[in-house]
Amino acid sequence: MTSKPFVDHLRRTFICIAGSVLAVIAFAAQPPVAGAQATGSPLKIGMVGAGREGGALGTLFVKAGHPVTFSSRHPGDLKGLVAGLGPLARAGTVEEAIAFGDVVVIAIPYAAMEQLGQAHAGALAQKVLVIDVSNPIARRDGEAFVKSVGEQGGAGLVTAKFLPGAHIVRAFNAIGSGRLAQLAHRAGEPVGVPIAGDDPKAIAVAQSLIREIGFEPVLVGGLAMGRHLVPGTPLGGEHTPAEIRQIAGSLH
Ligand SMILES: NC(=O)c1ccc[n+]([C@@H]2O[C@H](COP(=O)([O-])OP(=O)(O)OC[C@H]3O[C@@H](n4cnc5c(N)ncnc54)[C@H](OP(=O)(O)O)[C@@H]3O)[C@@H](O)[C@H]2O)c1
Repeated sequence: MTSKPFVDHLRRTFICIAGSVLAVIAFAAQPPVAGAQATGSPLKIGMVGAGREGGALGTLFVKAGHPVTFSSRHPGDLKGLVAGLGPLARAGTVEEAIAFGDVVVIAIPYAAMEQLGQAHAGALAQKVLVIDVSNPIARRDGEAFVKSVGEQGGAGLVTAKFLPGAHIVRAFNAIGSGRLAQLAHRAGEPVGVPIAGDDPKAIAVAQSLIREIGFEPVLVGGLAMGRHLVPGTPLGGEHTPAEIRQIAGSLH
């Protein structure tokens, strides 16, 4: 007959082994560390705005091997876009794209940014990186609105005001959507992407993502410098990294 101490010993050993196995399973099942520390491993990306610019940029992220949720207030409209991009792409609501992404990319009319913040600032503040591609444009957002953004420090500081706590980097603000696919990974010297941000980790992740999709990031300064990253300014358009450094050096 088996003694009670021996049975107790067996039970303790079983509980100990089962606990270790469960711990290993739980660790393996964890989602990738948000941001993946700019290691080049796949990052989940949520696109808020999947129009011309958001659609083109998201496509480059998918082609670089990142899972992307493209969003719309009418996600059914994105069926064609995601079907053409394969299993890494899917469509969802704005809320779903934000929940999905380790990184969130915002490419919407700038006038919609405040409303986005009111609905989602808390969730966006949890992300390792929020890339702000959006620009205040008078013909779209209205003269008075654009003037008011300028008076508050310009795009960058105002994005931070609308999305409190978010780790924002402005990028891709003035490269036309129709040119992105052509310019990505171009032969010879890469096209530079001026970026502005205050958070070192967010900047590192943005730099890594920008290189992966075939451009060269150039940090031009803190988020306050984001006001220079809009179309129609010296940094707007297509420049080499050296040109961006030179232009940025003359700005303040
Ligand atoms: N086009 C370019 O070449 C280019 C280049 C650089 C930067 N940008 C900037 O990128 C932004 C988008 O420009 P775009 O040309 O891509 O515009 P677009 O083609 O008109 O697309 C706008 C996108 O914003 C979404 N959107 C609009 N209002 C929204 C709201 N309240 N909440 C959530 N999503 C909203 C729309 O989604 P729905 O499907 O829900 O309507 C749509 O996906 C602008 O700020 C622009 O300055 C554009």
